Amino acid sequence: MINLAILISGRGSNMTSILSSIQSRKISNVCPKVVISNILDAPGIEIAKKQFGIPTEIILPDGKKGWDYDSKIVNILKKYNVTCTDGLICLAGYMKILSKEFIDYYPFRIMNIHPALLPSFPGLNAQKQAIDYGVKISGCTVHFVDSGIDSGPIIIQESVPVYASDTEETLSARILEIEHKVYPNAINLMANDKIRLKNRTVIID
Ligand code: GAR
Repeated sequence: MINLAILISGRGSNMTSILSSIQSRKISNVCPKVVISNILDAPGIEIAKKQFGIPTEIILPDGKKGWDYDSKIVNILKKYNVTCTDGLICLAGYMKILSKEFIDYYPFRIMNIHPALLPSFPGLNAQKQAIDYGVKISGCTVHFVDSGIDSGPIIIQESVPVYASDTEETLSARILEIEHKVYPNAINLMANDKIRLKNRTVIID
């Protein structure tokens, strides 16, 4: 059984899809332990508490950056028994860059979802980047987090069409719909030992 922590900064729709999938047993072998936010009034925090009864923690940066801040997250993860050997930390719209120290502490135990087909359009405003570039296909990527920006080994990707009439909003909504399926799938694969790494290639058994 994997102990799961979810880190959010905002509305938490990916968090909701993960917690719902655990409830409905689409994800097995995962126990959700805590939802952590760096933003005081992140709407996802109320959802985690009220809809799912999951413990929540808010860690305000208070001017702290890098490991000074991230070591506080480590302390909370320890408190909830989310460990570097059998825990999983899912970034779900967590908009703060993690320090190298934090990432090195949890090797291949941190996942992120990104609203583009990486390695295209990493970083902020991925959907706007895709529209501005004029691509015909975009999508989402679940990947392990390494110390680069959205550069870690790719676990699953799924694509959606991009239409000439799309705005950032319409494309974001189309991508979000598949994010809600793909992220739970990736977590379920990891929790059921279906993921292996060969160099930086993720192999799904
Ligand atoms: C999602 O679209 C997620 O892919 C994106 O933020 C949104 C969070 O929505 N993440 C990133 O852009 C990370 N680079 P949510 O709070 O409703 O899950």
